[in-house]
Amino acid sequence: MIRLAILGSGSGSNALNIIEKCKERLDVQVCLIICNVPGAGILQHAENNGITAITVNNSELKSEQFLLDLLRQYQIDWIILAGFLRKIGPKICQAYPNKVINIHPALLPKYGGKGMYGHFVHDAVFQNKESQSGITVHFVNEHYDEGNIIAQFTVSIAPTDLPKDIESKVRALEIAHFPTVIFETILK
Ligand code: GRF
Repeated sequence: MIRLAILGSGSGSNALNIIEKCKERLDVQVCLIICNVPGAGILQHAENNGITAITVNNSELKSEQFLLDLLRQYQIDWIILAGFLRKIGPKICQAYPNKVINIHPALLPKYGGKGMYGHFVHDAVFQNKESQSGITVHFVNEHYDEGNIIAQFTVSIAPTDLPKDIESKVRALEIAHFPTVIFETILK
Protein backbone atom coordinates (compact mmCIF):
# COMPACT_ATOMS: atom_id res chain seq x y z
CA MET A 1 0.00 0.00 0.00
CA ILE A 2 1.42 3.36 -1.07
CA ARG A 3 0.69 6.06 1.46
CA LEU A 4 -0.06 9.61 0.26
CA ALA A 5 -0.15 12.91 2.08
CA ILE A 6 -2.03 15.73 0.38
CA LEU A 7 -1.03 19.30 1.20
CA GLY A 8 -3.51 22.03 0.35
CA SER A 9 -4.62 25.52 1.31
CA GLY A 10 -8.01 25.87 -0.36
CA SER A 11 -11.35 24.37 -1.19
CA GLY A 12 -9.85 20.94 -1.72
CA SER A 13 -11.66 19.91 -4.88
CA ASN A 14 -8.54 18.16 -6.14
CA ALA A 15 -7.91 16.52 -2.78
CA LEU A 16 -11.48 15.22 -2.67
CA ASN A 17 -11.18 13.87 -6.20
CA ILE A 18 -7.96 12.02 -5.29
CA ILE A 19 -9.55 10.67 -2.10
CA GLU A 20 -12.55 9.38 -4.08
CA LYS A 21 -10.37 7.76 -6.75
CA CYS A 22 -8.22 6.08 -4.09
CA LYS A 23 -11.33 4.46 -2.63
CA GLU A 24 -11.58 2.45 -5.84
CA ARG A 25 -8.07 1.04 -5.37
CA LEU A 26 -6.29 -1.27 -2.99
CA ASP A 27 -2.75 -0.08 -3.72
CA VAL A 28 -2.89 3.64 -2.85
CA GLN A 29 -4.34 5.40 0.17
CA VAL A 30 -4.62 9.03 1.29
CA CYS A 31 -3.38 8.85 4.88
CA LEU A 32 -2.84 12.46 5.83
CA ILE A 33 -4.06 15.92 4.87
CA ILE A 34 -1.94 18.91 5.82
CA CYS A 35 -3.35 22.41 5.49
CA ASN A 36 -2.00 25.83 6.43
CA VAL A 37 -5.33 27.70 6.33
CA PRO A 38 -7.66 27.16 9.29
CA GLY A 39 -11.20 26.40 8.13
CA ALA A 40 -10.23 25.65 4.52
CA GLY A 41 -12.57 23.33 2.62
CA ILE A 42 -9.92 20.65 2.28
CA LEU A 43 -10.15 20.05 6.05
CA GLN A 44 -13.86 19.34 5.81
CA HIS A 45 -13.25 16.81 3.03
CA ALA A 46 -10.69 15.07 5.24
CA GLU A 47 -13.11 14.92 8.16
CA ASN A 48 -15.98 13.65 5.99
CA ASN A 49 -13.73 10.85 4.77
CA GLY A 50 -12.18 9.89 8.11
CA ILE A 51 -8.70 11.05 7.10
CA THR A 52 -6.39 12.66 9.65
CA ALA A 53 -6.12 16.37 8.91
CA ILE A 54 -3.54 18.59 10.51
CA THR A 55 -3.60 22.37 10.35
CA VAL A 56 -0.10 23.79 10.52
CA ASN A 57 0.81 27.38 11.17
CA ASN A 58 3.45 29.31 9.31
CA SER A 59 6.19 28.94 11.91
CA GLU A 60 5.61 25.18 11.99
CA LEU A 61 5.88 25.19 8.21
CA LYS A 62 9.09 27.18 8.25
CA SER A 63 10.66 24.50 10.42
CA GLU A 64 10.89 21.80 7.82
CA GLN A 65 11.74 19.35 10.56
CA PHE A 66 8.21 19.70 11.94
CA LEU A 67 6.71 18.69 8.60
CA LEU A 68 9.25 15.93 8.09
CA ASP A 69 8.51 14.44 11.50
CA LEU A 70 4.80 14.49 10.66
CA LEU A 71 5.37 12.79 7.31
CA ARG A 72 7.52 10.12 8.95
CA GLN A 73 5.06 9.61 11.78
CA TYR A 74 2.38 8.77 9.20
CA GLN A 75 4.83 6.74 7.08
CA ILE A 76 4.12 8.84 4.01
CA ASP A 77 5.63 7.59 0.75
CA TRP A 78 4.53 10.37 -1.63
CA ILE A 79 3.51 14.00 -1.11
CA ILE A 80 0.83 15.54 -3.33
CA LEU A 81 0.49 19.31 -3.49
CA ALA A 82 -3.05 20.23 -4.47
CA GLY A 83 -3.51 23.96 -4.20
CA PHE A 84 -0.84 24.33 -1.52
CA LEU A 85 0.28 27.94 -1.43
CA ARG A 86 3.52 27.59 0.53
CA LYS A 87 6.91 26.62 -0.72
CA ILE A 88 8.30 23.17 0.01
CA GLY A 89 11.80 23.52 1.44
CA PRO A 90 15.04 21.79 0.45
CA LYS A 91 15.04 19.35 3.37
CA ILE A 92 11.72 17.89 2.27
CA CYS A 93 12.79 17.80 -1.38
CA GLN A 94 15.89 15.89 -0.31
CA ALA A 95 13.98 13.50 1.93
CA TYR A 96 11.41 12.88 -0.85
CA PRO A 97 13.43 13.11 -4.08
CA ASN A 98 11.04 13.07 -7.06
CA LYS A 99 8.31 12.01 -4.67
CA VAL A 100 6.58 15.38 -4.35
CA ILE A 101 4.04 16.11 -7.09
CA ASN A 102 2.33 19.44 -7.74
CA ILE A 103 -0.47 20.54 -10.01
CA HIS A 104 -0.27 23.96 -11.62
CA PRO A 105 -3.30 25.47 -13.37
CA ALA A 106 -1.46 26.61 -16.53
CA LEU A 107 0.97 25.36 -19.13
CA LEU A 108 4.37 25.76 -17.47
CA PRO A 109 6.90 27.25 -17.97
CA LYS A 110 4.42 30.00 -18.82
CA TYR A 111 2.45 31.54 -15.96
CA GLY A 112 4.49 29.95 -13.19
CA GLY A 113 6.62 31.19 -10.33
CA LYS A 114 6.03 33.18 -7.18
CA GLY A 115 2.65 34.89 -7.03
CA MET A 116 1.25 32.86 -9.92
CA TYR A 117 -1.56 30.95 -8.28
CA GLY A 118 -5.35 30.78 -8.37
CA HIS A 119 -7.07 33.60 -10.21
CA PHE A 120 -3.78 35.43 -10.85
CA VAL A 121 -2.90 32.71 -13.32
CA HIS A 122 -6.21 32.83 -15.17
CA ASP A 123 -6.25 36.66 -15.17
CA ALA A 124 -2.80 36.71 -16.78
CA VAL A 125 -3.77 34.11 -19.39
CA PHE A 126 -6.86 36.22 -20.19
CA GLN A 127 -4.91 39.51 -20.37
CA ASN A 128 -2.46 37.97 -22.82
CA LYS A 129 -5.31 36.71 -25.02
CA GLU A 130 -3.91 33.18 -25.06
CA SER A 131 -5.75 30.77 -27.33
CA GLN A 132 -5.11 27.87 -24.95
CA SER A 133 -4.38 27.07 -21.33
CA GLY A 134 -4.21 23.86 -19.39
CA ILE A 135 -2.66 22.03 -16.47
CA THR A 136 0.85 20.93 -15.65
CA VAL A 137 1.59 18.09 -13.28
CA HIS A 138 5.23 18.22 -12.23
CA PHE A 139 7.77 17.08 -9.69
CA VAL A 140 8.59 19.65 -7.05
CA ASN A 141 12.07 20.95 -6.47
CA GLU A 142 13.32 23.88 -4.42
CA HIS A 143 12.18 26.48 -6.97
CA TYR A 144 8.54 27.41 -7.52
CA ASP A 145 7.05 25.54 -10.49
CA GLU A 146 10.41 24.49 -11.95
CA GLY A 147 10.62 20.75 -11.29
CA ASN A 148 10.50 18.27 -14.17
CA ILE A 149 7.17 18.12 -15.95
CA ILE A 150 5.32 14.81 -15.71
CA ALA A 151 2.29 15.61 -17.89
CA GLN A 152 0.41 18.50 -19.44
CA PHE A 153 -3.14 18.73 -20.77
CA THR A 154 -4.47 21.62 -22.81
CA VAL A 155 -7.82 23.27 -23.42
CA SER A 156 -8.86 25.87 -26.00
CA ILE A 157 -9.88 29.32 -24.89
CA ALA A 158 -12.62 31.04 -26.88
CA PRO A 159 -12.24 34.77 -27.57
CA THR A 160 -15.36 35.32 -25.44
CA ASP A 161 -14.02 33.41 -22.41
CA LEU A 162 -13.55 35.44 -19.23
CA PRO A 163 -11.03 34.48 -16.51
CA LYS A 164 -13.76 32.58 -14.65
CA ASP A 165 -14.50 30.54 -17.80
CA ILE A 166 -10.82 29.75 -18.22
CA GLU A 167 -10.72 28.65 -14.59
CA SER A 168 -13.72 26.33 -15.08
CA LYS A 169 -12.10 24.72 -18.12
CA VAL A 170 -8.80 24.27 -16.29
CA ARG A 171 -10.54 22.83 -13.22
CA ALA A 172 -12.34 20.31 -15.42
CA LEU A 173 -8.93 19.17 -16.71
CA GLU A 174 -7.65 18.84 -13.15
CA ILE A 175 -10.58 16.66 -12.14
CA ALA A 176 -10.27 14.54 -15.31
CA HIS A 177 -6.52 13.93 -15.17
CA PHE A 178 -4.73 14.65 -11.90
CA PRO A 179 -5.50 11.38 -10.07
CA THR A 180 -4.64 9.28 -13.12
CA VAL A 181 -1.29 11.00 -13.56
CA ILE A 182 -0.53 10.53 -9.85
CA PHE A 183 -1.32 6.80 -9.99
CA GLU A 184 0.71 6.28 -13.17
CA THR A 185 3.67 8.12 -11.67
CA ILE A 186 3.79 6.49 -8.27
CA LEU A 187 3.17 2.99 -9.58
CA LYS A 188 5.88 3.18 -12.25
C1 GRF B 1 -6.28 24.38 -8.36
O1 GRF B 1 -6.65 25.12 -9.46
C2 GRF B 1 -4.83 23.98 -8.44
O2 GRF B 1 -4.38 23.75 -9.73
C3 GRF B 1 -4.17 25.22 -7.93
O3 GRF B 1 -4.98 25.65 -6.88
C4 GRF B 1 -6.32 25.21 -7.10
C5 GRF B 1 -6.71 24.42 -5.89
O4 GRF B 1 -8.04 24.14 -5.86
N1 GRF B 1 -2.78 25.05 -7.70
P1 GRF B 1 -8.64 23.06 -4.84
O5 GRF B 1 -8.22 23.47 -3.44
O6 GRF B 1 -8.10 21.72 -5.22
O7 GRF B 1 -10.12 23.17 -5.01
